[in-house]
Amino acid sequence: LRVAVFASGNGSNFQAIVDAVQAGKLDVTIELLVCDKPQAPVVARAAGAGVEAFVFKPKDYASREAYEQEILAKLQEKQVELVVLAGYMRIITHVLVEPFAGRMINIHPSLLPSFPGVNAIDQALDYGVKVTGVTVHFVDGGLDSGPIIAQRALDILPDDTADSLAERIHRVEQELYPQVISWIAADKVSIDGRRVTIESRAS
Ligand code: GRF
Repeated sequence: LRVAVFASGNGSNFQAIVDAVQAGKLDVTIELLVCDKPQAPVVARAAGAGVEAFVFKPKDYASREAYEQEILAKLQEKQVELVVLAGYMRIITHVLVEPFAGRMINIHPSLLPSFPGVNAIDQALDYGVKVTGVTVHFVDGGLDSGPIIAQRALDILPDDTADSLAERIHRVEQELYPQVISWIAADKVSIDGRRVTIESRAS
């Protein structure tokens, strides 16, 4: 499966995917990193992994749709089959959502539909929930609203801080995301409306 990863920041999920591929645990090729922040650590991670990067500054374009058209052309040129959003901090429009319907996934650090949007970890702590987690979902036109593929729950501990909770959430993400991508690569994931079925979790 030919994959592109979109990221804006640290890139620990990008790295986890690269590591899983290099360890022979994930049978995909990472064709492209798309990043909207030239200084983001994920750009250096891509260079280190020998992954081609398309790095752009949104300000250089007249609109969201304009840079997305350019991204779409890159994805088509690389024959990308799955778009993996991993901390890509921008709204995605119909320009990319429609061509990649059912072929674009996102990871979010809460149990959706609770706490969509930015700062989900802080939102959960501030709300006072006792259980939170990680969600991987297909991307539709809304904010963290697409059909859910997989979720993992985590207890919030009495002495948790935003940092301690984020660290545990990130560890879960880095395990779950490569796993979900491997299910998609093995064609085990099917969508029926909002209901997503995983054929077998054996691998
Ligand atoms: C992750 O927590 C992810 O769930 C959220 O953004 C964060 C990205 O972290 N969407 P990283 O850049 O992969 O380290």
